[in-house]
Amino acid sequence: MAVLLFLLLLSISAIHADEGPYIGVNIGTSLSAMPSATQVVALLKSQNIHHVRLYDADASLLAALANTGIRVVVSVPNEQLLAIGSSNATAAAWVARNVAAHFPTVNISAIAVGSEVLTSMPNAAPLLLPAMRFLQSALVASNLDKFVKVSTPHSSSIILDSFPPSQAFFNRSLDPILSPLLRFLQSTSSPLFLNVYPYYDYMQSNGVIPLDYALFRPLPPNKEAVDANTLLHYTNVFDAVVDAAYFAMEYLNVTHVPVVVLESGWPHKGDPSTEPDATTDNADTYNSNLIRHVINSTGTPKHPGIAVPTYIYELYDEDQRPGALSEKSWGLFDSTGLPAYTLHLSGSGLLLANDTTNQTFCVAREGADPKLLQAALDWACGPGKVDCSVLMQGQACSEPDDVESHASYAFNAYYHGMGMGSGTCYFSGVAAITTTDPSHDTCLFAGSGGKNGTSLLNNTSLAPSANSTADQSGSTRTTIFAPSFLQLFVLLMPAALQLL
Ligand SMILES: *[C@@H]1O[C@H](CO)[C@@H](O)[C@H](O)[C@H]1NC(C)=O
Ligand SMILES: *[C@@H]1O[C@H](CO)[C@@H](O)[C@H](O)[C@H]1NC(C)=O
Ligand SMILES: *[C@@H]1O[C@H](CO)[C@@H](O)[C@H](O)[C@H]1NC(C)=O
Ligand SMILES: *[C@@H]1O[C@H](CO)[C@@H](O)[C@H](O)[C@H]1NC(C)=O
Ligand SMILES: *[C@@H]1O[C@H](CO)[C@@H](O)[C@H](O)[C@H]1NC(C)=O
Ligand SMILES: *[C@@H]1O[C@H](CO)[C@@H](O)[C@H](O)[C@H]1NC(C)=O
Ligand SMILES: *[C@@H]1O[C@H](CO)[C@@H](O)[C@H](O)[C@H]1NC(C)=O
Ligand SMILES: *[C@@H]1O[C@H](CO)[C@@H](O)[C@H](O)[C@H]1NC(C)=O
Ligand SMILES: *[C@@H]1O[C@H](CO)[C@@H](O)[C@H](O)[C@H]1NC(C)=O
Ligand SMILES: *[C@@H]1O[C@H](CO)[C@@H](O)[C@H](O)[C@H]1NC(C)=O
Ligand SMILES: *[C@@H]1O[C@H](CO)[C@@H](O)[C@H](O)[C@H]1NC(C)=O
Repeated sequence: MAVLLFLLLLSISAIHADEGPYIGVNIGTSLSAMPSATQVVALLKSQNIHHVRLYDADASLLAALANTGIRVVVSVPNEQLLAIGSSNATAAAWVARNVAAHFPTVNISAIAVGSEVLTSMPNAAPLLLPAMRFLQSALVASNLDKFVKVSTPHSSSIILDSFPPSQAFFNRSLDPILSPLLRFLQSTSSPLFLNVYPYYDYMQSNGVIPLDYALFRPLPPNKEAVDANTLLHYTNVFDAVVDAAYFAMEYLNVTHVPVVVLESGWPHKGDPSTEPDATTDNADTYNSNLIRHVINSTGTPKHPGIAVPTYIYELYDEDQRPGALSEKSWGLFDSTGLPAYTLHLSGSGLLLANDTTNQTFCVAREGADPKLLQAALDWACGPGKVDCSVLMQGQACSEPDDVESHASYAFNAYYHGMGMGSGTCYFSGVAAITTTDPSHDTCLFAGSGGKNGTSLLNNTSLAPSANSTADQSGSTRTTIFAPSFLQLFVLLMPAALQLL
């Protein structure tokens, strides 16, 4: 599919930056062809991105950001933490050079002190709070503390037992550091910076976390995760992690520190054998849904209506990052500014050029058990009332003649027939939503440009008829018949839900 240009109009924040919800973007710079500072800022402007986070305080980038109105989180890199945490004077010099020298032409909103220090550099943890205090007192001395907040981004892995959220707590061995740190944030009206990666939670869950739950896709009500203590319903991993942070803070008697998600995203490419869910479709789905979720100000189940400002990781693919292919593939754009995929933001209240399609399709999940697929196919063409006649031999969608292709056609027809409603692309977990039109040759899938968009669910075309089943039996590998009660049972019974 052609990559369409898109415009990210995140302009709600222009008016109510301090109160309203907003989406920002992280700007990592491990690119072999890093665009110039002016090119970076041109891209930000063209996409109406009003909030960014830098991983340092690069002078040329800050110069290019001057007088743009873009709000900037600058960072103290981990390797500078030692110096700043052990010397008030060094901290003051850092603030003078990297904040005071640029403010207010550059609208610097926060200093992120280090990155995931407690988990990635535990030896430096004792210096974290001193560094934050030194930076804070330097800001106070420059009269900048009202404008510039000091915080430090944490990995969400410091929260243990994060489901149910009401029972979450911070790793207790970190309490001696976290407890005073949280009190510092509370006393300076600063947010808790949290990095939230449902991608990793999903990858590490050994199948316990459904992909749909990580991607903010609709789950059938009986698949939603319920916190038994609070009776709050969780429909996605992101909310559950943010609420786990709120509960973990409450456990330490800290109740007035808002959460800002400083990093979240999904890789659009990965090694197919080890990272099969790092795909363009999933990245598009995650980030589109995330943006919609944040901008809509739905908040979390614990704090409905309280925005959780979120910075997407990240603006560019960083081809020089070490590690797996997915590590290099979190970007919204490549180094030339070409979008990696088109975000699907209609319905989010954002103006988004070229997202007029709302195109989603429901297909057989890659690698799904063929027996379950067959049962689901049978259900769709039977009780599901999908017209499966085009799957018959000689008809438009008979080829490729395998259960995945046929199931994809039938699942999609059902999904569109049901108005793409919540939970209608599930089929016992063997179905998945995609933005790629699976139509091929003369086989047009419902929802594709070739269709009128009318429902395929129609009792005038109930499948299967007796003779069509007979036609199928000898000639094709996939069969279409009414499912047995056992198959129905398999399809309709929700799996027992246990999370994390
Ligand atoms: C920085 O941004 C905030 C929020 O948009 C705004 O109120 C403030 O005036 C800006 N400051 C400068 C110096 O532009
Ligand atoms: C650090 O410097 C600030 C002024 O920049 C001063 O107010 C503060 O007392 C100093 N703190 C320490 C621990 O020396
Ligand atoms: C808790 O933190 C300690 C100290 O950083 C670490 O050694 C330990 O592995 C952590 N526990 C868990 C369960 O992550
Ligand atoms: C939180 O407050 C309760 C009641 O005031 C107290 O018993 C508890 O020790 C406090 N916990 C912490 C970690 O400060
Ligand atoms: C936005 O939030 C409202 C409730 O506040 C909800 O009914 C609606 O479905 C949400 N829209 C999206 C696109 O999430
Ligand atoms: C929409 O897409 C077309 C063709 O892909 C492109 O020419 C046009 O500039 C795009 N519109 C916007 C507003 O980006
Ligand atoms: C896309 O779908 C959303 C919700 O499903 C709907 O509100 C919106 O109008 C649709 N947009 C287009 C262009 O069809
Ligand atoms: C689809 O549209 C074409 C022309 O607009 C029309 O002739 C045809 O009957 C429509 N098909 C359905 C199923 O509505
Ligand atoms: C059934 O099909 C007819 C024509 O093929 C169409 O006019 C009607 O809207 C369909 N009904 C439903 C419920 O889709
Ligand atoms: C479709 O089914 C409904 C009830 O399920 C029935 O009232 C209607 O007459 C049927 N329409 C056709 C065209 O068979
Ligand atoms: C199925 O049988 C009916 C009558 O028994 C016949 O009219 C119809 O054409 C047959 N359909 C196919 C696809 O063979």
